[in-house]
Amino acid sequence: MSSHQKIISSGAEANIILVEGKEKEVIKDRIKKHYRLEIIDEKLRVQRTRQEIKLLEKASKVINTPLPIQSKERDKKSTKIHMPFIEGKKLSENLDKLEKKQALEICKKIGESISKIHQINIIHGDLTTSNIILDHENKVWFIDFGLGFHSERLEDKAVDLHLIKQALEAKHFTSWKEYWKAIETGYKKINKSHSKETLQRLKKVESRGRYKDKY
Ligand SMILES: Nc1ncnc2c1ncn2[C@@H]1O[C@H](COP(=O)(O)OP(=O)(O)O)[C@@H](O)[C@H]1O
Ligand SMILES: [Mg+2]
Repeated sequence: MSSHQKIISSGAEANIILVEGKEKEVIKDRIKKHYRLEIIDEKLRVQRTRQEIKLLEKASKVINTPLPIQSKERDKKSTKIHMPFIEGKKLSENLDKLEKKQALEICKKIGESISKIHQINIIHGDLTTSNIILDHENKVWFIDFGLGFHSERLEDKAVDLHLIKQALEAKHFTSWKEYWKAIETGYKKINKSHSKETLQRLKKVESRGRYKDKY
């Protein structure tokens, strides 16, 4: 790693390397899993990298998300994604600090964005407030499509919503219920009939959850 590169995050799946240059860039580098057979591990990492690139490219047409930077020498067998560094703060660290009115505006935008990717049948797969970046203009950016996939199913979309709802609740945001209402409002604004169906399905998903807890 050269002097203008540093690791800014190391998760279970990948290291995120910040590359300082004219434009700040990050490299998401999927790490080796030694408990997997090497040849299988390599295949999986390449596959997931390509999948994430495709989802980012598709999602970036409808929402704010870093668009992977492709280059000729970057081969199809890579386990790295190069993308622009999004300047801002993780929503998880920021939402509570904002004025309530502003926080609710942001939640509404989040709802709209989720609805927009669902409309093109992209499921994010890991909708938590750590995978959303709030920039200086209060724009919301969605990152980490590492668990994302394509699906037309209402069920998958409802589960995606369930995840963000749970994430809000778990982070102990004192106002998570209001935040959630704002997300719902934003979600319903885009493609009304389809969103309504998804939200109805969410109720089903949640009643199943309660059932499980009880017995
Ligand atoms: N394009 C980016 N711009 C700015 N920060 C990023 C970017 N990509 C990742 N990060 C930072 O690195 C962290 C981990 O990246 P992420 O893609 O979520 O991988 P993981 O699978 O480890 O969660 C993010 O929470 C964020 O703080
Ligand atoms: Mg993440």
